[in-house]
Amino acid sequence: MYIATLISLAASLRPSAAATAQFFAPPSSGPLVQSLNYTGVSNSTLDDRHVVEGQVFNRIIQVWLENTNFETAAATPVFESLAQQGIVLSNFNALTHPSEPNYVAAIGGDFFGMHDDNMYRIPSNISCVVDLLEDKGISWATYQENMPADGYYGYTYTSPNYASPSSKPYTYYVRKHNPLIIYDGISEDPNRIRNFNDFAADAVNGTLPQWVFVTPNMVNDAHDTTIDFAASFLEYWLVPLLTDPRVNGEDTLILLTFDENETYEIQNRVFSLLLGNAVPDCLRGTIDDTLYTHYSSLSTVQANWGLRSLGRQDTNPLLSNVFSFVADATGYENVYVPASEIPMFNLTGVVPGALTSAAFVPFAAPDLEAHGAGSCGVLTRPGLDPTLTPCTLPPPVNMLALDATTPWQMSPKTTDGRNTIPCANAKCR
Ligand SMILES: *[C@@H]1O[C@H](CO)[C@@H](O)[C@H](O)[C@H]1NC(C)=O
Ligand SMILES: *[C@@H]1O[C@H](CO)[C@@H](O)[C@H](O)[C@H]1NC(C)=O
Ligand SMILES: *[C@@H]1O[C@H](CO)[C@@H](O)[C@H](O)[C@H]1NC(C)=O
Ligand SMILES: *[C@@H]1O[C@H](CO)[C@@H](O)[C@H](O)[C@H]1NC(C)=O
Ligand SMILES: *[C@@H]1O[C@H](CO)[C@@H](O)[C@H](O)[C@H]1NC(C)=O
Ligand SMILES: *[C@@H]1O[C@H](CO)[C@@H](O)[C@H](O)[C@H]1NC(C)=O
Repeated sequence: MYIATLISLAASLRPSAAATAQFFAPPSSGPLVQSLNYTGVSNSTLDDRHVVEGQVFNRIIQVWLENTNFETAAATPVFESLAQQGIVLSNFNALTHPSEPNYVAAIGGDFFGMHDDNMYRIPSNISCVVDLLEDKGISWATYQENMPADGYYGYTYTSPNYASPSSKPYTYYVRKHNPLIIYDGISEDPNRIRNFNDFAADAVNGTLPQWVFVTPNMVNDAHDTTIDFAASFLEYWLVPLLTDPRVNGEDTLILLTFDENETYEIQNRVFSLLLGNAVPDCLRGTIDDTLYTHYSSLSTVQANWGLRSLGRQDTNPLLSNVFSFVADATGYENVYVPASEIPMFNLTGVVPGALTSAAFVPFAAPDLEAHGAGSCGVLTRPGLDPTLTPCTLPPPVNMLALDATTPWQMSPKTTDGRNTIPCANAKCR
């Protein structure tokens, strides 16, 4: 938050602040060329070419940027030109503050009370979108720029500054923007938590999966920089991929979004854009003002492939409208919410949960009777106690008052590697 404030200040002072600003430098000669500027060359490609047909798209790629005002993004030339090729979602909201809980929620349908960027893990009885996808045999992967090794478990990773080799090494990778590693049930499959060299290798081999989550590094996603910097990154990385059939195939949908709004006291609205060949021609250059949130990416995927649900906020109709053109094609009925009833989406540090030390409660089971946007049924993982519901949970405990923290918070200092996770159910591969 503090950093974001400084950045917006810097942005408002441009161009005078530009003297000290960082400038975009391409990490590689192209988005599908592996680079030695990244630690960790790709050792193997994914090899699954099986395609599970969706009703509207066969591949979805989410690209998450950071902390930029809607109007700033909307007035930046590359966004203006991308907007002509896609659908601007003008009423898309993040869920809370700061970054990490938004990423976690977009994957698992809840942020479990989290309201900081600390090092957490989520136990293996908690399902997330990957479980829903695997249930139908849909391939998936996440690609994290500057993550040094597949399935890397560390809190951050610092590598040589490729833009300015004489400068100090730079912390390009952060775990807080890599939600799949945080879910124990998923981090047991390190081969699908991949880096950008793997992205290049998989795309060139024609084996980019059907569900893809992309996190650019801390400078390219605008977190440590400005929207102009991120715009240069998009021109280098995304724009050429839009005309590359190995990435933007015939039925590919691309969601370009931001993790959160930067001000806690205003509506948590973020700039979001749907791109890709799955967007019908007649909708290109249009604006969709339906109320969406980061849960909408879960419900949209569920509607498209007829998936079961997580039984969490992904099944709360108010928070999980399906992207309209997908809802229309799949027969899902969205909820219209008048502007005066739209939540602020800024509940931060006031929700009890397993990932807040201030009001700790155990992980509850989802609502097993819930109906999502796909097929009926809530998918659960082994080890889930269905009787532990929000109604049967014990009252929240302030762990901080006991000089403790939630058991799901880990110390970054002692966990710089996958092997330090206790191997709970001998499922480690
Ligand atoms: C590393 O990045 C620098 C700065 O953009 C670039 O000049 C160089 O060609 C890159 N190296 C590789 C191997 O791509
Ligand atoms: C490419 O994909 C195929 C499967 O379609 C796999 O057998 C092969 O090992 C992959 N990798 C490379 C580098 O060709
Ligand atoms: C935050 O939301 C407000 C109100 O919708 C909007 O004016 C502003 O641009 C948004 N900021 C970001 C970071 O998108
Ligand atoms: C490839 O294998 C080497 C040696 O085991 C490892 O150091 C490197 O991190 C691997 N690359 C990735 C992307 O995991
Ligand atoms: C949410 O925004 C409202 C209105 O500005 C503000 O009063 C409230 O304190 C904010 N909530 C949090 C948790 O920041
Ligand atoms: C999930 O597993 C964790 C760790 O064993 C446990 O604390 C929690 O109560 C479980 N929750 C449910 C709903 O089973």
